[in-house]
Amino acid sequence: MSPAVPVARRSKALSSQIGLTERIFTNAEDRATAAAIERGLEQVEAGILREVSFADSVADVATRYLLSAGGKRVRPMLTLLTAQLGEGIIPDVLTAAEAVEITHLASLYHDDVMDEAEQRRGVPTAQAVWGNSVAILTGDLLFARASNLIAGLGDRAIRLQAGTFERLVLGQLHETVGPQPGDDPVEHYLQVLSDKTGSLISAAAQLGVVFSNAPREYEEPVMLFGERIGVAFQLVDDVLDLSPRSEETGKLAGTDLRAGVPTLPLLHLRRQAEQDGAAAALLARIEAGIATPGSSDLAAAIEELRRHEATAITLAESHRWAESAVAAIQPLPEGTVKKALTRFADVMVERSS
Ligand code: FPP
Ligand code: MG
Repeated sequence: MSPAVPVARRSKALSSQIGLTERIFTNAEDRATAAAIERGLEQVEAGILREVSFADSVADVATRYLLSAGGKRVRPMLTLLTAQLGEGIIPDVLTAAEAVEITHLASLYHDDVMDEAEQRRGVPTAQAVWGNSVAILTGDLLFARASNLIAGLGDRAIRLQAGTFERLVLGQLHETVGPQPGDDPVEHYLQVLSDKTGSLISAAAQLGVVFSNAPREYEEPVMLFGERIGVAFQLVDDVLDLSPRSEETGKLAGTDLRAGVPTLPLLHLRRQAEQDGAAAALLARIEAGIATPGSSDLAAAIEELRRHEATAITLAESHRWAESAVAAIQPLPEGTVKKALTRFADVMVERSS
């Protein structure tokens, strides 16, 4: 089965992406934690590769395809980090971290089919290469493997995974059908973000606490942190979507908008357009541009939206979600985990500046 599996290239240590190896983490405990997480991530990577070995060239190539194309491994990193609140990276923690990342991968295969996306992680999407059926079945295979790993962790993990899966699907469903009569579009959108992104990040953080046998009272703070940072992350993405093509996104400015995704800047513009003529005129240009492929005015209108108050409001909202994520972890003990999570929240929102 072609093409060959792409090779992931990472320029820097994974945990440095969340500030774990930066100069503010100077003491021996911080450095030891960073090293343990780096080693743990290598074990997770090897473990995931074992899980996508079906000894079947068709299934192996398809399931490894996106895994090998890269990815930040944010979710397993969070699991390994919150496990530092307990006994550290013990075997069940590694299993949970692998299951979380495989679940995430599974969801990406399905998401790309629904979005009719052409590229993911710098390579053509699975359905662009093999078609929808193979992409959907590959997502199913991955989800089966994640479920098998989770089953080994017992009833609590199975329920947690089932609840998370339900929220992922509900998030996608509500996004697909859009707000219903009487729903506030902004509230609806934020709920979609919580469900489709916040839920799995929240579960990743919770699993680290649960399977490292950390004190039970740490579960709620890290779950809230994960949920809120997931929403902050998505809102920053909405702002980045409007930026000119960058190395980071590799996407055309307004890719989501052009695909009909009502991102938060557009929803705020719609709100303002109810009482503000200039906002209404800009909205009309964007809607006309989206409806007319190849429109020469759309790029200019997207650039105006990027500099519009509606985008500034979105950015401020993403900062508020990140701040509330940090507020949630105040009950955690002072130390490396709290510092790293706080830095992680900063890094998320700094992407937009
Ligand atoms: C990406 O959103 C999509 C998600 C975060 C969740 C997708 C969830 C499912 C498809 C349901 C669960 C399915 C399985 C098999 C677990 P996006 O389109 O906004 O982001 P993108 O820019 O990364 O595509
Ligand atoms: Mg998508």
